[in-house]
Amino acid sequence: MALAGEIQAKTGQGAATPGSVAKNYAPVEKPDLEYTPELAEEMAPLYEKVKHVIPPIEWPFFAPYIKAINELKKERNAVILAHNYQTPEIFHCVSDIAGDSLQLAKDAAKVDADVIVQCGVHFMAETSKLLNPEKTVLIPDAKAGCSLAESITGADVRMLREKFPGVPIVTYVNTSADVKAESDICCTSSNAVQVVESFDSDTVLCIPDEYLAQNIAKQTKKKILTWKGHCEVHERFTAEELKRYREDDPNIVIIAHPECPPDVVEEADFSGSTSGMINWVQENQPKKVVMVTECSMSDNVAVANPNVEFVRPCNLCPHMKRITLQNILDSLLYMKDEVTVDPAVAGKARLAVERMINLGN
Ligand code: 13P
Ligand code: SF4
Repeated sequence: MALAGEIQAKTGQGAATPGSVAKNYAPVEKPDLEYTPELAEEMAPLYEKVKHVIPPIEWPFFAPYIKAINELKKERNAVILAHNYQTPEIFHCVSDIAGDSLQLAKDAAKVDADVIVQCGVHFMAETSKLLNPEKTVLIPDAKAGCSLAESITGADVRMLREKFPGVPIVTYVNTSADVKAESDICCTSSNAVQVVESFDSDTVLCIPDEYLAQNIAKQTKKKILTWKGHCEVHERFTAEELKRYREDDPNIVIIAHPECPPDVVEEADFSGSTSGMINWVQENQPKKVVMVTECSMSDNVAVANPNVEFVRPCNLCPHMKRITLQNILDSLLYMKDEVTVDPAVAGKARLAVERMINLGN
C-alpha cells in the first residue's frame, strides 16, 4: 500500500453547486399543512410502522408533509430516491427507492418517471442525472455536498494520470462528474474490491478515500495507490471507542463502514456498505449491535428489526441532514434545485459509472 506521493487532498466543506429551477413545469398551489383529526386517522397505519423511531410529539408536524409529498409525487410523475442515511420520516414515509450508493445508481438507471428527487447528497443526484440525461433530476438542497467529493478535482486526476502513467484509476462514486470523467471506472464501498480486481495491472489508483483504499488493500494482492480524502463522518470513529464498547459488553456485535480508518474496521466483526450492514443485521439478528456509521442508519434499520438492540454512536453527516420533508415538498412544488451536468464531461463520466454497473451484471 502506498500513498499517491506527497499529494494532499483539499479540505473543502463539502459544498456543492447552487441550485436552479427546472423550466416548463406548471406551478402547483402550496397544500394545506394542518394536522387535522381526519389526517391523523388517515396516517395512523403509517405511524404504526415508524412509531419506534419517530416520537409522537414529532408526528403531527411530519404527517401533513408526508401526505402532501406523496400526493405531489403522483401529480409530477416523480420518484424519490433516498440514501440509507436519510432520516426515518424520509426513508420510511416518502421514498420510493432506498439503498446504498450502488443500489441508488443501479435503480436510477431503471427509473420510469419524468422526475427524480434525490434525497441524498449532490454527487448522488449527479450520478442519477448522468444515467438519465433526459429526465429532470432535483435535489431538495443543492448545497448537500460531501467531504470526499470536495477533496479532489478533475485537474488532480489528470495530474495523477501523468504521474502514474498506465495505472488504472478507480474513482469512488463520492466524487463530482468532473472527477468521474477523468477516471477509468467508478466503484462504491460494496464493489470496490471486485472493481480493483477487474484490472490486469499490478497497481491500481483508488481515489479519493484514503481509508477505503487502505481497507481494500487488505483484501487484494494488488498495490493500491490513493489520495488523502476522508469522509468527515467516518474518520471520527476510533478503535479505542470500539474497544470500550466491547469492554462494556463482551457480547456486543460491532459492524463498521469501510470509510472508517483501517484500525476501526479491524476491530469490527463485519464491514460493508450501508446496505451490506443492513442486510447483515437482518440476516444475523444480533442481540445487541453497534453500527459504526452515520446516525440515521440505526433508526432506519430498527424499524424492521424490533428484536435487535442498537447502541447508537451519533456521528451525523451534516450534508445528508440538509434534506428535510420541508425542502422535499418545496422541491416538488417549485421544481428545484435542478441538477445538471456539463455536457463536456457528462459522456465520459457516464461511461465510468456504466462500466461499474455493467461489471456487477
Ligand atoms: P454506501 O451507502 O455506498 O455504503 O456509502 C456510504 C456513504 O457515505 C455515502 O455517502
Ligand atoms: Fe460524504 Fe461521509 Fe457524508 Fe457520505 S457520510 S455524504 S461520504 S461526508
